[in-house]
Amino acid sequence: MVEEETQLKELISSAEIKERLLQVSRVLDEKYYGEELVILMIMKGAVCLAADLIRTLNMKLSIDYIRCSSYEGQERGDLTIIGEEYLDLENKNVLVVDDIFDSGVTMDSVVKKLKLKNPKRMESLVLLNKLIEKSTEYRPDYTLFDVEDLFVVGYGLDYNENYRELPGIYVFKNSPE
Ligand code: IMP
Ligand code: MG
Repeated sequence: MVEEETQLKELISSAEIKERLLQVSRVLDEKYYGEELVILMIMKGAVCLAADLIRTLNMKLSIDYIRCSSYEGQERGDLTIIGEEYLDLENKNVLVVDDIFDSGVTMDSVVKKLKLKNPKRMESLVLLNKLIEKSTEYRPDYTLFDVEDLFVVGYGLDYNENYRELPGIYVFKNSPE
């Protein structure tokens, strides 16, 4: 992976992510003081963020997940949500966690669908919010970083299932091919 990293330029370092995650975790600790939270990961992109988040929060929590997929390479396809039929969110505080809020379609659809399960409160947290015109009204409640409209990888984000393991956020110097 080191050779491939030479094609990549670091946009956000793992230290920056860690620092920002601590800030947001303290906000969440205060907001949910004395309550329990379900960390609902959108797999697979949220894996790194959720794994770090559950260890920086100071509260009673549980984790659950759904799978969403809408990309093949950099091309957008139809959104599929898998696994929501197994979730029990009735009267629970739910924090939906995703890697990136791009067009907003994924998070908007997920939140709409999961609200039908009567949670007590439902909020959303994303690692990145792309600075583009959104196709939906919905906005995430918590964002770690705003990023330019570039295709990014690392810290859970992939290009054709590669690069998820990188510790920071990277952009391709040229085309990802
Ligand atoms: P949205 O539905 O357009 O908001 O897209 C959200 C999903 O698209 C994310 O959960 C990612 O899986 C994927 N995605 C969007 N932009 C990128 C990117 O720059 N790199 C990797 N995945 C991305
Ligand atoms: Mg995703």
